[in-house]
Amino acid sequence: MEYNTLDRKFLMPKIRVAKDALNLAELAADHFVSLSQTTTKNQQQFTVALAGGSTPGGMYSLLATEKYRNRVNWRKIHFFWGDERAVPPEHPDSNYLMVRQALLDPLNILEENIHRIHAEYSPVKAAEEYAQELTSFFNSSTDNPPEFDLLLLGLGEDGHTASLFVGSNAINEEIEWVVADHIFKLNDWRITLTLPLINAGSNIMFLVSGERKAEILKNVLINNQQPEIYPAQLVQPKEGKVIWFADSAAAALLPRSIITE
Ligand code: 6PG
Repeated sequence: MEYNTLDRKFLMPKIRVAKDALNLAELAADHFVSLSQTTTKNQQQFTVALAGGSTPGGMYSLLATEKYRNRVNWRKIHFFWGDERAVPPEHPDSNYLMVRQALLDPLNILEENIHRIHAEYSPVKAAEEYAQELTSFFNSSTDNPPEFDLLLLGLGEDGHTASLFVGSNAINEEIEWVVADHIFKLNDWRITLTLPLINAGSNIMFLVSGERKAEILKNVLINNQQPEIYPAQLVQPKEGKVIWFADSAAAALLPRSIITE
């Protein structure tokens, strides 16, 4: 059973708690399969913007296993990225490389279905080029941003998501869909989708794992809106549905009243 509670000034998202990291990957993979099957019944493609970092790797690898690979019509799935580090595609920090190794190569995904951020360019050029890729793929215009069928997002211990960090320029961007940002705390550049694009998505799933995320997950979900310190709170799609998937370690500080299962 899943339910929303109305004990906040905005509708609480659904929160599903997995037993452990493996079960989190299973719940997330099941949700991906279900969304892609439903969507591709009525449309020719399913567009997904993937999260980077370490948490989603388990889900990506699971989707490539015998248990899952035949449940998705991969020819219809188009892969994008929610953000990327300013490194070339073969760099160990590349979010693209992580997905290629876990999912794209094992499933022999067609190159035409893979829309990576060309982070080997200068960050600003990579952001401009990606915005152009989105515009042409979705045939969109400035005032009607592309509507991803699904966006996967992670949650940093500091409350960031994608590469929307406290104090970053990207967090306040209201027009551009993709920006390059020098992140002070990382002393490095990131390329990230912005909130106008993220909040246009039809479905958003957060994946959060581990006891290190328990405090921030509670703060993001339970504390009143303080997006200046918890950027993930700004992910509030106009019409899209948000589901938070967390393992029991990450969900340890959440009140039972808001948890599914
Ligand atoms: C990235 C991600 C970032 C990530 C969070 C959580 O490029 O690192 O997009 O937003 O999702 O930092 O990272 P972990 O899953 O590694 O904890």
